[in-house]
Amino acid sequence: MMAAELDLSDIQGTVLRNRPMPYFGSYLVFTISDASAARQLLQRLVPHVTSAADWDNPPEDAWINVVFSFAGLRKLVDRAEDLAGFPAEFRQGMARRNVYLGDVGASDPSNWDLPHGGNGFDIGLLIMAGNLELKEEKLAIGHAALEGLAGVELAARLDVSVPSTMREHFGYVDGISRPFIEGQGGLPLPGQDVVKAGEFILGHENELGGIARLEGPEALWRNGTFIAIRKIRQDVAAFRKFLRDNAEAAGGEEMLAAKMMGRWRSGAPLALSPDGDDAGLAKDPGRNNDFAYNDDDPDGRKTPLGSHIRRVNPRDGLKETLTDIRLHRVLRRGFSYGPELPEDTFDDDGIDRGIVLAIINADPGRQFEFVQAQWINDGDFISQGERTDPIIGRRDRTDDFQFPAKPVRRRVTGLPDFTLVKGGEHVFLPSIPGLRWLSARQG
Ligand code: HEM
Repeated sequence: MMAAELDLSDIQGTVLRNRPMPYFGSYLVFTISDASAARQLLQRLVPHVTSAADWDNPPEDAWINVVFSFAGLRKLVDRAEDLAGFPAEFRQGMARRNVYLGDVGASDPSNWDLPHGGNGFDIGLLIMAGNLELKEEKLAIGHAALEGLAGVELAARLDVSVPSTMREHFGYVDGISRPFIEGQGGLPLPGQDVVKAGEFILGHENELGGIARLEGPEALWRNGTFIAIRKIRQDVAAFRKFLRDNAEAAGGEEMLAAKMMGRWRSGAPLALSPDGDDAGLAKDPGRNNDFAYNDDDPDGRKTPLGSHIRRVNPRDGLKETLTDIRLHRVLRRGFSYGPELPEDTFDDDGIDRGIVLAIINADPGRQFEFVQAQWINDGDFISQGERTDPIIGRRDRTDDFQFPAKPVRRRVTGLPDFTLVKGGEHVFLPSIPGLRWLSARQG
């Protein structure tokens, strides 16, 4: 067991704490019309903000964390120059990044509902709990902190909870593969890659060999990070229909679902179980992430080059190119929202359901945005032209997916939009001392 070397009690919990399972959460976003009211809110909240200490054995299965959009920081940071060194992507806001990110057509920010088209909120509260009672307790803390504060208004609330299947809406087990952060304490699981802390936490060494830092007051950014929040609507009926209608061409519905993801819907990786599902492997954290691609499967015969997991984390599979994948790792927390589409239903009921992703990264341009633009929404890096991710990619340039098989390569065409982006923002998650710094006037 390695001792933790990070200042865990200064770091907000969501950076290092895995999602509870089952999970019940709320995203609450607010606008600030009076900075002193917002400072008061922070003063009241800080004692309740959950840190990453005890992350292995948390005292309770719940947390409250606090984030800011650039607009929000601008209202609380007295000297504009203190924010000049924050990343351009964060300062612009995610809506203005839409062309690069591929949020176009129906995913255009003009169609977003959360959080109101980009930089439309100032502060966000992320509440997560292992049961409903604990979630209510944390919500009550939030309500109490807001009491009597006229200058902070609720802009939107989105509740998340795991579907009864314990899988995300398309039917996949998720939350399996994640990097091990150097200094987090404990030991990596087999196959888990150890990534420098500065990729996810400012103030620490990163994969470029320097210290991840921002210009401006260290008290504000040290032990903080950025989170790319994405609200993604999932068209479950379209996904089910597509699997059903193309099953024959692709070796069966489950095989097609597995080839598109790179894992069977149980979570078992194709890399280790290419011909059939393996429930035991799926559930075994000692084995279910212990694989690479290059030696064994350079052409994607097992795990297609274009599958979701091989795109978003090519592991050792890009050795022939100049891309250093270590510079493009992200930490994900995915939470489902909306009711389940009843089993065996193939028609859309018009109800909004999907996933809210919180993608943690210290450098949003080099990490989340790169993965989204270059790996999810392009195929050049794997010699697949403009082909995009078969599950979440944009479809306006190409709409097919192909993978090697015997005796001939299989190709399915006419992939519809299985997902639409309905909101997104780059937010800053300060450290707990950083929250205190923001809660006082600096001038
Ligand atoms: C509707 C949206 C999405 C769904 C349903 C989804 C689902 C999944 C599933 C089922 C897995 C495999 C199990 C696991 O390792 O957790 C996975 C892995 C992963 N996803 Fe997604 N995902 C979505 C969007 C995204 C986006 C937008 C990103 C962007 C950055 C992303 C990044 C990743 C990463 C990095 C992995 C781990 C790959 C690995 O290390 O092998 N996902 N996703």
